[in-house]
Amino acid sequence: MPLITFEGIDGCGKSTQIQKLKALLEGTGRKVYLFREPGGTPLSEEIRAILLDSNRTIHPVTEMILFSAARSDLITQQVQPLLQRGEWIILDRFYDSTTAYQGYGREAVRMEELSNLNHLATNGVIPDITFYLRVDRETASKRREGEAADRMEGAGDAFFERVIQGYDQIAEREPDRVTVLDASQPVEKVFDDLMVALKHHYGEID
Ligand code: TMP
Repeated sequence: MPLITFEGIDGCGKSTQIQKLKALLEGTGRKVYLFREPGGTPLSEEIRAILLDSNRTIHPVTEMILFSAARSDLITQQVQPLLQRGEWIILDRFYDSTTAYQGYGREAVRMEELSNLNHLATNGVIPDITFYLRVDRETASKRREGEAADRMEGAGDAFFERVIQGYDQIAEREPDRVTVLDASQPVEKVFDDLMVALKHHYGEID
């Protein structure tokens, strides 16, 4: 029941790496289920639209609960049944995003409360391996130049610095689960590093 998650700030290059990994795994004949968070179910996609709407003002605690509600729906409707069948699942973000963005970025609640909520929303599901694509805010912003900023992306540099610190601390606390990839490198090099870590975890992928 492989569960792989991807994390990092907006513009870190997550989507590119996810697509490459998915294609590689599918090339070996595996069926791969990919979900984005928030999203992945009709209800969670509706919650996503609310959360990312730049015209809305949402209190940090409300925001945290909405991200968690979307997660709970995805986990119960999709992820847990697939895990029980032993399927390969990739999640584009998971509860580390809530820790980094709402916990460290918004400084919304005490960490203990946040981790209780994360536990509730995930039903205790923990990824086998989490790839944290680490990149500085400046590089990430440059990559997103010309794209419209959603409500989260409009949060400003100080916010994203705190989010990066949050991710760094998560990676430090859980080195066995979280693999840090230097995402300022060229795409192919990042993917090579990713594959080294993946094979270390699952053995040869063929
Ligand atoms: P995406 O653009 O990578 O799809 O992610 C949506 C945005 O939502 C992104 O700015 C990160 C943010 N986010 C949180 O703030 N908390 C969360 O728990 C999740 C899953 C995403």
